Amino acid sequence: MLRVGVLVSGGGTNLQAVLNAIDSGEIKNAEVKVVISNNKSAYALERARNHGIDALCISPKEFENRTQFHNELLLKIDEYRLDLIVLAGFLVTIPEAMIQKYRNRIINIHPSLIPSFCGTGYFGLKVHEAALARGVKITGATVHYVDEGTDTGPILLQKAVEVKEGDTPEELQKRVMEEAEWVILPQAIALIAKEQEEKA
Ligand code: GAR
Repeated sequence: MLRVGVLVSGGGTNLQAVLNAIDSGEIKNAEVKVVISNNKSAYALERARNHGIDALCISPKEFENRTQFHNELLLKIDEYRLDLIVLAGFLVTIPEAMIQKYRNRIINIHPSLIPSFCGTGYFGLKVHEAALARGVKITGATVHYVDEGTDTGPILLQKAVEVKEGDTPEELQKRVMEEAEWVILPQAIALIAKEQEEKA
């Protein structure tokens, strides 16, 4: 059984897509053991609690410095003995020690077709604003492994989404979530769980 931890900062619709896929059997041999947010009012925590999953808030604001926050985050992650860490709208930089320790075991969902509209400063609605400003006709989402850079790790899955005439950033964000993110994030976890099962 793949032990999964999901890191979130906001609404948690991607988390919900993963929980639904586990419930429906689309993802087999995986279990979400913990959901961690940097923000205590993130609705994602509520979604986890509603599912009977441990929901923790580890906020940088509660620590004297970044190192202490990073240490606590890594301590908790280690405590749950996770096989896979999923960044599902987690808007905090991942400590380098965690990237090294969990290499090839951290994935991130990004709301564009990497290498477009990614890297520092591209998160949430800003990604869709940039895509519309550039006038692209196709955008999408990417699931990639996390390395030391921002959105630079190996790509696991991508899915394209059409940009429609007159789209607002919010409309485009919604279409990218519905047609791409909520599809490929569960698919990626299903793939990784299957791989682990085949190795066992
Ligand atoms: C998602 O669109 C995700 O791709 C994005 O934040 C949103 C979180 O929504 N992540 C990034 O922009 C990371 N660079 P959710 O909380 O409803 O899943």
